[in-house]
Amino acid sequence: MSQMMEANPQISEYLSRISHASEHISTMVSDILNEDNRSHVSMEDLFHSILMNSSSFLPDDILNVHLNCPNAVIAVNQIRMVRAVVNLLGNAQKAVDAKTGVIRLSAESSEGHVQICVEDNGIGMEPEQLKCAFEIGWSGTGSTGMGLGYVRQEVERQNGTICLESMPGQGTRAVIRLKEVMCDAP
Ligand SMILES: Nc1ncnc2c1ncn2[C@@H]1O[C@H](COP(=O)(O)OP(=O)(O)OP(=O)(O)O)[C@@H](O)[C@H]1O
Ligand SMILES: [Mg+2]
Repeated sequence: MSQMMEANPQISEYLSRISHASEHISTMVSDILNEDNRSHVSMEDLFHSILMNSSSFLPDDILNVHLNCPNAVIAVNQIRMVRAVVNLLGNAQKAVDAKTGVIRLSAESSEGHVQICVEDNGIGMEPEQLKCAFEIGWSGTGSTGMGLGYVRQEVERQNGTICLESMPGQGTRAVIRLKEVMCDAP
């Protein structure tokens, strides 16, 4: 095998990619099965996974991405945090007009915390709707009403907070706040 790899660097490159992909799948399965699993994840990697998982329902021309802290690191169950943010993007997508809709996904780091923000210029919510929004089973769109309850549960499990602001006819903003892992300089 090693002779083959020396003889053909392309084979070596393919094997390295396969090995990397299988490690990635193994971490994903472990994160799904063990909700308390945590790993250090850079915001760049987190956003990469979020965008991979939302591209099927969110056209590029609706979504604006602003990642101001690509090197910031958080300690999370990656697949569950990705699902949480994708849920917020799904809600935003349902709320916006197909022609004029704009969704902004952003992140910044400040004072030892990372803030991930999903904003839209969609239909927004009345104050009474906003009060029910996190209730499991409550839906204003005839769906299952599981999304925001799951998002809050996941964020709080990872010692973070989520807040939701909304104005009817103006849009909605969801902000997830998580502690940043401060890596020591080498
Ligand atoms: N960005 C948003 N703009 C307007 N309304 C929203 C937004 N996000 C959530 N809502 C309102 O809050 C309700 C609850 O959201 P939630 O994600 O929990 O459930 P759902 O989207 O209806 O169902 P599911 O997520 O299970 O498919 C939505 O049905 C909608 O009425
Ligand atoms: Mg939802």
